[in-house]
Amino acid sequence: MKTVILINPFLDRESEFYQPRRIKEELERCGVACDVLPNAWLADVGEKIGENLTGSYDLCVYLDKDKYLPRILEKRGMRLFNRAEAVELCDDKMLTHIALAGLPMPRTFFAPLCYKSGGNEDEKAGEIGSLLGYPVVVKECYGSFGEQVYLAEDEGELAILSRRLKNLPHLFQEFVAESRGKDLRVICIGGKAVAAMKRTAEGDFRSNLGRGGKGEKVELDGEARDLSERAASLLGLDYCGVDLLFGKKGYLLCEVNSNAFFGGIERVTGVNIARLYAEYMVATMRK
Ligand SMILES: Nc1ncnc2c1ncn2[C@@H]1O[C@H](COP(=O)(O)OP(=O)(O)O)[C@@H](O)[C@H]1O
Ligand SMILES: [Mg+2]
Repeated sequence: MKTVILINPFLDRESEFYQPRRIKEELERCGVACDVLPNAWLADVGEKIGENLTGSYDLCVYLDKDKYLPRILEKRGMRLFNRAEAVELCDDKMLTHIALAGLPMPRTFFAPLCYKSGGNEDEKAGEIGSLLGYPVVVKECYGSFGEQVYLAEDEGELAILSRRLKNLPHLFQEFVAESRGKDLRVICIGGKAVAAMKRTAEGDFRSNLGRGGKGEKVELDGEARDLSERAASLLGLDYCGVDLLFGKKGYLLCEVNSNAFFGGIERVTGVNIARLYAEYMVATMRK
């Protein structure tokens, strides 16, 4: 059988070690040996790309979202769960929206990157405001735990945010008012939805558990299942957490996480995500 390496961004706090520990236990239950390593390797890019990294591993469960290491490991011939391209498409929220264009999602515009000083943020803010109305959601393309997601209540706030984010990839998005402080998190494995929870926050429009949102188990309806599974398949993901917003006319796709934490949703739903993911990987490799 193949040997597996699990790459985790953090290996210091117990809460952050939960995912690799559980996946390792479940892979070993299936008779697959694995090692867990942090993502802090220095990969050699050149004639012998990544030779110093891969050792005798055949597979990698990549629990991080840095985009360079997966590309290097794939160049070395490793099969990654998730694949490098899928990780990259999820890591950048704008790339995710472009890849999923055609699925129901909030109206979204990207902010052209600008490295010059000056520029007319006030004019730009006026234009975005007239297209999307207020409040308007502003997101950095790279971010997690709701920390890089903002709400601009009026043109003044939007101009301030635009100025602040000018040199960073970011997007403007219609605020889905019906979904304020709540969303639906769906875990998909091998393109199939396996668990879902509704997340609700008090006093914040963002419902991330890391910001104090509370999760509750829900039965997945056909529409949420279909939208999540289509997103996971279009992005080529083995494993992901899809965030759906509750729109006026139905669900809207918010974002897709290639490295979604599963400890919270396991507790809320009782679904053994680590086991399902390990079994899926073993079945895929046996094909
Ligand atoms: N367009 C939107 N309208 C309403 N709420 C939103 C919108 N976009 C995001 N949110 C809320 O903010 C949270 C964080 O946004 P998300 O895009 O998932 O970023 P992150 O990667 O930081 O989790 C979502 O879970 C949702 O509760
Ligand atoms: Mg999210």
